[in-house]
Amino acid sequence: MSDSVRLAAHAKMNAFLRVLARETGGYHTIETLFVLLELADEVVVERTGGGIALEVTGADTGPAEQNLAWRAADLLLQAVRRRFGVRIHLTKHIPLRAGLGGGSSDAAAVLAAVNALADHAVPRHEILQLAARLGSDVPFFASGAALALGWGRGERLLRLPAPAAAPALIAVPPFGISTPDAYSALDRARQQDSPRGALALDQEALSTWGSIGRLGGNDFEGVLFPAAPRLREVFERMAGTGPLLVRVSGSGSAVVALYRGAADRDAAAEAMGTGRQALIRTATRNAPAPSPQPTS
Ligand code: C5P
Repeated sequence: MSDSVRLAAHAKMNAFLRVLARETGGYHTIETLFVLLELADEVVVERTGGGIALEVTGADTGPAEQNLAWRAADLLLQAVRRRFGVRIHLTKHIPLRAGLGGGSSDAAAVLAAVNALADHAVPRHEILQLAARLGSDVPFFASGAALALGWGRGERLLRLPAPAAAPALIAVPPFGISTPDAYSALDRARQQDSPRGALALDQEALSTWGSIGRLGGNDFEGVLFPAAPRLREVFERMAGTGPLLVRVSGSGSAVVALYRGAADRDAAAEAMGTGRQALIRTATRNAPAPSPQPTS
C-alpha cells in the first residue's frame, strides 16, 4: 500500500437554499440542492510515525488545530486507534468565507485519504457520521454525489443524477461572510415571519439546470442584499448576463451563475470585468469526485 495519497477537494454551490426553522440548540433546519463544481483544492496526505502536521499553501487558514482538515484527520486516526500519524498538505484554490464549502470539502477529502492510508478500515456509514460531526456541509462532500438534495442541517442526503456539466462563473466579492453571522441576521429578520408553507418537489424538476433554476433562490439573499449593497450589485450584474441560474452560494459571499455554453460564460466574464470582484471560470461536475490515488 502507498504511504502517500492525493485527491481533489471540489467546491460546491447551493442551487437553492431554504432555511426552515431554528432548532433549540441554535442550528437551523434547511432544504437545499448541493451541486459539485470542478473548482478544487488539492489535498496530499502522507503517513508518518505519529501526530498530525498540516501545511497550507495559497491562503491563510489560521491555526492548524482549528482547521477542519486537521480535525478530520484527528477523528479518523482516533477511529483507527492512532496506528500511525499523518502530514497533510492543502493547496487552496477555493476562496474562504465564500459559501463554496472549501473547508468542508478539504475535511471530507482528508477523511477519505486517511481512511485509504488505513486500508479502508472505517466503513462508509461511519465516515458519514464523522463527516456530520465536523460540519453541516461535510457529509455532502463525503457522500460521493455530484448532485444531492440535502435536508436536516444538510447532513441528510438524497443523491441524484446530475444534469450534463454546465459552464459556471463564480464572482467573489472582496469581503467574506461568516456563516453564524448570516444565520443570526436571518433570525433577526424573521422574528415576525410566519412558518414556511407546503412544498412538493418533483424529481423531473431536478433534472435540468433550467428547471432547477425555476425552483427558487437562496433565503440568505433576502437578508444579505440590504446589509451588503455591493453583493446585491454583483448579483444583479451577473443576473443581467443571461445565465440559466444565478445564486448566492450558501451564506455567501460568492455568487455563482451557470450558462448554456462556455462562449456564454466567457462573454459574461468579459461583461463583468474584474474591477469589483474576482472571477473564477469553472463548471458543474456530473461525476462524483475521484477517490484518493497514490502519489507516485
Ligand atoms: O455546521 P457548520 O460548522 O458549517 O456551521 C457553522 C455555524 O453556522 C453553526 O455554528 C451555526 O451557527 C450555523 N448553522 C446553522 N444551521 C445550519 C448550519 C450552520 O445555524 N444548518
